[in-house]
Amino acid sequence: MFIKRATICLFFSSLALGAPSLKRSTHERSHRCVIPSSNGTANDSPAVLQAFAKCSSDSVIVFQEGVDYNIFTPIAATNLSNVEIQMKGNLHLPQNISTVQSIVNGTSSTLYADGAYWFTLAGPKIDYTGSSNVNNGWINSYGQAWWDANPVNGTGIDSRPHLLSFQTTDGSLKYFKSRKPIAWNVQLQGDNITVSHAFIDAESTGSFPFNTDGFDVTATNVRITDSIIYNGDDAIAVQSGSHNVIFERNTIGYQSHGMSIGSLGETQSEFANVSDIHFSDVTVIDAVYASRFKSWMGGQGIAKNISWKNIRVYNVTFPIFVTQSYTNQGSTETQLGNGVTTGRVNNASVMMEDFVWSDFTGSVNSWRPGDGSCVTDPCWYDLGLPDLKHTETVIIECNTDSSCKNFELTNIEIIPQTLAEPTVVCINATASLNPELGFDCRNGTFIPN
Ligand SMILES: *[C@@H]1O[C@H](CO)[C@@H](O)[C@H](O)[C@H]1NC(C)=O
Ligand SMILES: *[C@@H]1O[C@H](CO)[C@@H](O)[C@H](O)[C@H]1NC(C)=O
Ligand SMILES: *[C@@H]1O[C@H](CO)[C@@H](O)[C@H](O)[C@H]1NC(C)=O
Ligand SMILES: *[C@@H]1O[C@H](CO)[C@@H](O)[C@H](O)[C@H]1NC(C)=O
Ligand SMILES: *[C@@H]1O[C@H](CO)[C@@H](O)[C@H](O)[C@H]1NC(C)=O
Ligand SMILES: *[C@@H]1O[C@H](CO)[C@@H](O)[C@H](O)[C@H]1NC(C)=O
Ligand SMILES: *[C@@H]1O[C@H](CO)[C@@H](O)[C@H](O)[C@H]1NC(C)=O
Ligand SMILES: *[C@@H]1O[C@H](CO)[C@@H](O)[C@H](O)[C@H]1NC(C)=O
Ligand SMILES: *[C@@H]1O[C@H](CO)[C@@H](O)[C@H](O)[C@H]1NC(C)=O
Ligand SMILES: *[C@@H]1O[C@H](CO)[C@@H](O)[C@H](O)[C@H]1NC(C)=O
Ligand SMILES: *[C@@H]1O[C@H](CO)[C@@H](O)[C@H](O)[C@H]1NC(C)=O
Ligand SMILES: *[C@@H]1O[C@H](CO)[C@@H](O)[C@H](O)[C@H]1NC(C)=O
Repeated sequence: MFIKRATICLFFSSLALGAPSLKRSTHERSHRCVIPSSNGTANDSPAVLQAFAKCSSDSVIVFQEGVDYNIFTPIAATNLSNVEIQMKGNLHLPQNISTVQSIVNGTSSTLYADGAYWFTLAGPKIDYTGSSNVNNGWINSYGQAWWDANPVNGTGIDSRPHLLSFQTTDGSLKYFKSRKPIAWNVQLQGDNITVSHAFIDAESTGSFPFNTDGFDVTATNVRITDSIIYNGDDAIAVQSGSHNVIFERNTIGYQSHGMSIGSLGETQSEFANVSDIHFSDVTVIDAVYASRFKSWMGGQGIAKNISWKNIRVYNVTFPIFVTQSYTNQGSTETQLGNGVTTGRVNNASVMMEDFVWSDFTGSVNSWRPGDGSCVTDPCWYDLGLPDLKHTETVIIECNTDSSCKNFELTNIEIIPQTLAEPTVVCINATASLNPELGFDCRNGTFIPN
């Protein structure tokens, strides 16, 4: 709690002090639509849709500073071109869960992973600019009630929408602020997208906020910087088709599942491809993972030129984690206690090549490992790891003795809270393919080089 408050203060005071010119040239954006509000008396979605239709190209669309907008039905603006959206008001989704569920049920989306999006913004050159005023520019989704409605041992109730699908080329997302999202926050698709000063608050006062991913990325040439993500799943998940993604100067925490690549290779017939992904200068607080790679046994593909550098971990259960035998909790393919997945042929691996982990400092969570996403025995994050001591700083599990190549770990200075020797679990990262690994790949004590 203390840490969170301190971080918020720094974040917003730097906005006030820095005050760089936020104005960009709008001369090509000659139209302007200011969205009227009912001020809480009606559904404002029709007015929003009307503005997006009228100002769909070469325009500035304004949600007025400090004004409340009820977004009781989803907004899809998929024909935008060269538009700036000034998000200076505060948006409110319906507070009635069944109202939202019946809308999601009315779409053709798959329930678990691909629920409908509440906001879909698509087209070239979209700049979403939130308010730098701490009180304004929030999207309020009232997720707390959804999290608390999750039954004991459930992994999130049905018919939850994703919040925002942002599909653009040469676009940006600045000061995106999400308060208590129902589940997944932002899906980024497209090319050349800059995200900065995002603030995602999925911290729960009750039940676990399942699937509150920060950014799911299927895009090229993406930068996500100077942001704060407190949530209950991946802060960022970089998915197949992503190339050249930078994630830096961010703070992530609460019940975060870290900075992830994947999951890759779920559909065995499809070739996953991810490259040039770099995470650096990130603080990770109370998370299950800091750096994480997840691919499915029997999936095929390549993940190449990937790094995590200058990472500060505080009270993190698994600071560095690689699995090539991943499954989703709640998926129909079951995992046996030894980490083996049934129902899949282990005929391929997503090949990992040129991975760097360097300059990690901080502490392993030895005292209260894991988080509230554990609803099975063993927990999903302990599967295949029967003898955890919670002194593990590095866990690397390769599917075969040739599926991990050119891994390099340097300056990993992470200490278990118990002050015991740091340990490592390592399978099949062979010395011949990984001459710079920095330690012997075997189950044992971690000796940093
Ligand atoms: C809502 O509030 C704004 C700003 O205070 C005001 O300009 C507008 O007229 C109000 N709208 C209605 C429908 O009352
Ligand atoms: C999309 O916008 C363009 C102008 O930018 C317009 O000509 C076209 O009719 C729009 N298409 C749809 C489906 O609205
Ligand atoms: C939510 O909406 C449903 C259907 O309109 C209604 O039956 C129910 O009473 C509402 N719940 C609350 C808490 O208002
Ligand atoms: C929506 O569908 C889910 C899953 O079938 C169901 O649990 C829920 O009751 C439905 N809700 C509404 C309001 O239709
Ligand atoms: C990327 O988009 C920005 C606008 O957000 C633009 O200024 C820049 O030229 C684009 N970069 C490339 C390589 O197209
Ligand atoms: C592995 O087997 C699955 C299921 O039979 C198949 O879809 C996939 O293409 C196979 N992968 C390779 C690399 O042959
Ligand atoms: C993976 O994607 C990169 C970038 O688009 C491309 O250069 C490379 O050829 C792809 N690799 C394979 C094996 O398809
Ligand atoms: C790795 O990625 C970085 C950033 O995209 C790029 O500059 C570098 O050239 C890549 N390295 C290789 C060997 O492709
Ligand atoms: C460490 O993180 C766990 C899980 O989030 C939490 O329960 C515990 O209170 C944290 N401990 C400290 C010392 O911050
Ligand atoms: C929840 O799961 C735990 C661990 O598997 C089990 O002990 C408990 O009985 C379950 N509770 C309910 C209500 O299903
Ligand atoms: C290591 O890789 C070999 C094949 O390359 C495989 O047979 C073996 O099961 C793997 N070891 C473990 C512990 O997974
Ligand atoms: C590590 O060693 C323990 C026994 O000391 C064993 O039970 C466990 O399976 C090993 N883990 C791996 C990943 O090899």
